[in-house]
Amino acid sequence: MSRHYDVAAVRSQFPVTERLLYLDSAHQTPLATSVREALLGFYREGHEMAGPKPVWLDRVEQVRARVAKLLNAAPDEIAFTKNTSEGMNIAANALPLTAGDNVLLVEGDHPNNAYAFLNLRRKGVEVRFVPMTGETAQAEMFAPHIDARTRAISLSHVTFHAGHRFDIDGIGALCAERRLYFVIDAMQSTGVIPLNVRASGASLIGSGCHKGLLVPQGLGILYCRQGLDELQPAYLAMSSLAHPPGDYIARADNMALKAGAGRFEIGNFNLPDIHALDASLTLIESVGSSAIEAHLYDLGDRLIERIDHLGIRLIGPRDRANRSPHIYVLDLPAEEWADYLASRQVRVSPERDGIRVSFGLFNMAEDVDRFAQVLAERGTLPARAGAAA
Ligand SMILES: Cc1ncc(COP(=O)(O)O)c(C=O)c1O
Repeated sequence: MSRHYDVAAVRSQFPVTERLLYLDSAHQTPLATSVREALLGFYREGHEMAGPKPVWLDRVEQVRARVAKLLNAAPDEIAFTKNTSEGMNIAANALPLTAGDNVLLVEGDHPNNAYAFLNLRRKGVEVRFVPMTGETAQAEMFAPHIDARTRAISLSHVTFHAGHRFDIDGIGALCAERRLYFVIDAMQSTGVIPLNVRASGASLIGSGCHKGLLVPQGLGILYCRQGLDELQPAYLAMSSLAHPPGDYIARADNMALKAGAGRFEIGNFNLPDIHALDASLTLIESVGSSAIEAHLYDLGDRLIERIDHLGIRLIGPRDRANRSPHIYVLDLPAEEWADYLASRQVRVSPERDGIRVSFGLFNMAEDVDRFAQVLAERGTLPARAGAAA
């Protein structure tokens, strides 16, 4: 049972839950039946009618508007991309950075956020990794590292490796005050935490759609705040232009860019996944992002209580303000636990510092209890877990 929504009804959309104890949504979410139906519907149209492309492209715009609504953005602030990493690379290369400028990142954050910016070192841009000093990343942590050549801060909203929830509103306010660009990797938060792009003050936000947005790999979204016209795409295609040539002959004298985030789009879209996203947004909207977040926090509280009882330490923050609703890393050596958990039909991820449990909107309190039981049934807890008791 949940205090927030009818989880059993949502769960019936995820038949994999009958076979597996699925606690790995931070890796990828299983396919929901309605999302599968949307994919099949798209393939059927392509198969039987060779696809009504104008209809498909109309749907792209409808889905763009739905994504915008989810993020409290305007439709022309949203571009479709391939994944988060592409979004981060678009962002890094769009910023007007020159030799001697520097960008602040968080030490240990997702490598694909870091590599997008480290690649700018060939242009003479410096990347500074800021160590995390408190429970999570906050504005005060960055302030001492900002100097006259600092131009941007880029970080995850939620960390994949320990479930920190970074204070993006506070860091966004610092960026506004110091006139810095603010780039967010929202891969682990979209669909799980209500994201208000206006409150965050972000310049650019990138996310893939294969976790909280419930779509198979290969589709990403990029938010680019209106008015940042100085941000230029590194790549160009007809789809990036305000007036693409009707005769399909490229001319150098009319290359004005689209005003919105569409200037970062290249060529054809991932149409199957955009159809899938239409269905997954219907599912997410039927529950509501706030209800999903609240339910997952409840599951997290329950998990923390159970592992405390078993003497297993939680890596990462414990309190709701600093932790994500859905990612919990347990201080259990992955090499000693991964096979055992797989043999008990429990799907989790081995992570840097232990075993990562991550919830999706279909998980229930009973899943947490069963997981705790499976942990307890192993009998001897490894030394690391015992030490925390
Ligand atoms: C925080 C974060 N950023 C980026 C990525 C990479 O995502 P993508 O494959 O969409 O580039 C992941 C994937 O797990 C992630 O957790």
